[in-house]
Formats: sequence, structure tokens, C-alpha cells
Amino acid sequence: MDSNIENNNKKPILEAINLSKRYEDNALALDNVSFTIHPGEIFAMLGGNGAGKTTTINLFLNLIEPTSGDCKIDGVSCVSKPLEAKKKVAYVSENVMLYPDFTAMQNLDFFIKLGGRMNLSKDEYKSVLKRVGLQEDAFNKKLKGFSKGMRQKCGIAISILKDAPAILLDEPTSGLDPKAGAEFVNLLKELKKEGKAILMSTHDIFRAKDVADTIGIMNKGQLVMKKKQSEIHNEDLEQLYIKYMAGYMENAA
Ligand SMILES: Nc1ncnc2c1ncn2[C@@H]1O[C@H](COP(=O)(O)OP(=O)(O)OP(=O)(O)O)[C@@H](O)[C@H]1O
Ligand SMILES: [Mg+2]
Repeated sequence: MDSNIENNNKKPILEAINLSKRYEDNALALDNVSFTIHPGEIFAMLGGNGAGKTTTINLFLNLIEPTSGDCKIDGVSCVSKPLEAKKKVAYVSENVMLYPDFTAMQNLDFFIKLGGRMNLSKDEYKSVLKRVGLQEDAFNKKLKGFSKGMRQKCGIAISILKDAPAILLDEPTSGLDPKAGAEFVNLLKELKKEGKAILMSTHDIFRAKDVADTIGIMNKGQLVMKKKQSEIHNEDLEQLYIKYMAGYMENAA
């Protein structure tokens, strides 16, 4: 069945509703952006530097407040009920913020307990670290000796254990080697199958086309294109990207 039709019967997990953000210095970073992401759907945001991708993600995390509009996670407003909304989302940033003096196992234990799950066993931690592809001899090593890809794997392990319905990823594959990048994409596809709603920003057009169900192109704070992967199946996404960026430039001139 067409996933569009199928999704119409499901409640969206991530919703941006006429979302705008003007920072204190008056720059309009986000301009009336709306989208929905359903269970089992991956939405990839593309767009140049400063387009508003991180701003969008930070609004869902309530790290900043919108100037107007709202964003919801599983029906809960990130603006009026931020604590409740945060329980429903896992987040992995480009530079995963974990404790360098803790081992992989200790980081998992710390962040999972912080998230309120007190009853997980060491075996469960080990099995999720295996699942994300961290080599076993690193499980009890301190993170300060880890490569970026290894830290990323710990971050996604924590996200998996949090078992939230929504996952936000800000440039998750940037700086990963091709093998780690491909493994990461496979993991995202598994999480999608488990019914997670995933919002990711990326500069990697090819990976976006591979993994995402819906692709959005942001330009100067606006969502200038939003298409289902099936709609762009036979089109060259790189050409489409260039066309939309150029179209915006013409309109702006
Ligand atoms: N804290 C802030 N204060 C003022 N302006 C900001 C702040 N954060 C972001 N901006 C501005 O908002 C706009 C959108 O930035 P944002 O970080 O969302 O872009 P992005 O799409 O994530 O870019 P990149 O691809 O470089 O990560 C930019 O013009 C940026 O300068
Ligand atoms: Mg960014």
C-alpha cells in the first residue's frame, strides 16, 4: 500500500506547525515551516549552511523557543509541555556529548538512568553496543580515546535504549568513514522498521535519497521542497537540489 495512504490513518509523531524563529539579532532563521513525520518514517532535511536545519531540531528539543507556531512530539507541545515532550524523543548530535572519562558502559548506564530507566542489565547494555557495531574490546574503555564514529555509536545506543517514539539526528553521518556511515544508515532503517519517527539533517544528498521516505530542502529558513522518496525516484536529487536553490535565488532577487 502507498505509505501516504497508510500514514493518513496514523497519528503523526513529529509535527512542525507554522514554525518560525527569529533570533534576538532579528535574523529570521525559520519562516513558517510545517511538516509531519509518522511512525516508521524518516524525514531528511537538506539545505545549505544557515538554512535553519539545526534551528528546527533545537526547537523540538526546546533548547530554544519559537517566535510563532508550535512543534509537537506524539501530540505533546514542545513549547508548553517541554518536559513531557522530551521524554518522547532521543537525540544524537554531530558531536555527541558524552563523558570522556567514563567508559562506553558507564556512559550508557549514566544516561539511561538519567532518562529514568533503572532496571536495565549489563547484558542489555552489551547487546545494544554490539547492535550498533561498537567493537567489544572498546566497551570498557574510556570515551576520550574513541574516534568520532565510535562516540556516535554510543550516542545511538543510548537513543535505542531510551526507546522513545521519535529520534532527532543533526548531521549524524558527517565525519563518519564510508563503512561507519553505511552501518549507521542500516541502523536507521532498522529503527524505522521498529516504527520510530526520525527527523535528520544532512548534507549528504545520496544518503538522504537512500534512507529517507521524505526529503525536504530548506533555504533561508523556508521549506522550499518536500517530496516523498517515491516521487523523486527517477529524478536526480542533486539536480533537484540545485534547481530549488536556484529557484529561490531568482525569487529572492
Ligand atoms: N543562537 C543564534 N543566534 C542568532 N542567530 C542564530 C543562532 N543560531 C543560528 N542562528 C542563525 O539562524 C540561521 C539558521 O541557522 P542553523 O544553525 O539553523 O542552520 P543549519 O541549516 O543548521 O546550517 P548548517 O548546515 O551550517 O548546520 C543562520 O542564519 C544562523 O546564523
Ligand atoms: Mg546545523
